[in-house]
Amino acid sequence: MKLNQYIPSKFTLFIRRLRYYLYGEKFYKKLNYDWNKHQSRFEIINSIIEKKNYKSYLEIGCQADINFSKINISKKIGVDPNDGGTHRMTSDDFFDQNKENFDLIFIDGLHEYEQVKKDIVNSIKHLNKEGVIILHDCLPSKIWHQTIPQTHKSWNGDVWKALVECRTRLDLDTYTCTADHGLGIIFNRKNQNILNLDIKNFKSLKFKDYYDNHNLYMNLISENELYQLINK
Ligand SMILES: C[S@@+](CC[C@H](N)C(=O)[O-])C[C@H]1O[C@@H](n2cnc3c(N)ncnc32)[C@H](O)[C@@H]1O
Repeated sequence: MKLNQYIPSKFTLFIRRLRYYLYGEKFYKKLNYDWNKHQSRFEIINSIIEKKNYKSYLEIGCQADINFSKINISKKIGVDPNDGGTHRMTSDDFFDQNKENFDLIFIDGLHEYEQVKKDIVNSIKHLNKEGVIILHDCLPSKIWHQTIPQTHKSWNGDVWKALVECRTRLDLDTYTCTADHGLGIIFNRKNQNILNLDIKNFKSLKFKDYYDNHNLYMNLISENELYQLINK
């Protein structure tokens, strides 16, 4: 969740907020995360790269290279249709022509469930065997941070719904690290803690579902637990 130069105007956001307030879900409890007490995404990504001796990195959504420029690795590719990275295109266009695999893929492009799901599916196809996928913005604190369309400058989108869907898959082992607005962690291996959820349309999940079942749905882990997992 960052301020983005591509966000809609203040007026547009205001009108959207009003519409959501009238017609959207009404659930106003919030989660009390203080992200300043946790490591940032680039610290965690760099630690994992070092611990695993990873050689290749792909970032989807690179806005001004804020994170991309801080990643220490021999080979890195960044994809963004607007700014930053190495490839000026959407993630869909990139994956259509890409023939390479990566050790670590950081998904932080368009924060809408359908696109995040596509980015996950495409990333799995291009992940090296011992690799890991990390998704940004998986833990919105308030309903307003996850509305579609975006209603506030601070916005995580509904990335969390794609993460919950992965938690139900037998072939993916999925966690959420409680750092930097929630870092989804996906290993391409057998699910070690499957979420049994009888839903067909994950997009229809409500913020209340997420709030009430937070730990279970997201499979929360601390930074230390993440490093233990990585070392296994
Ligand atoms: C939240 S910012 C990324 C921030 C960056 N990864 C960081 O950690 O600081 C989201 C970026 O995704 C880009 N974006 C939007 N739609 C995209 C798409 N379909 N494919 C790839 N990037 C996209 C936007 O241009 C924007 O720069």
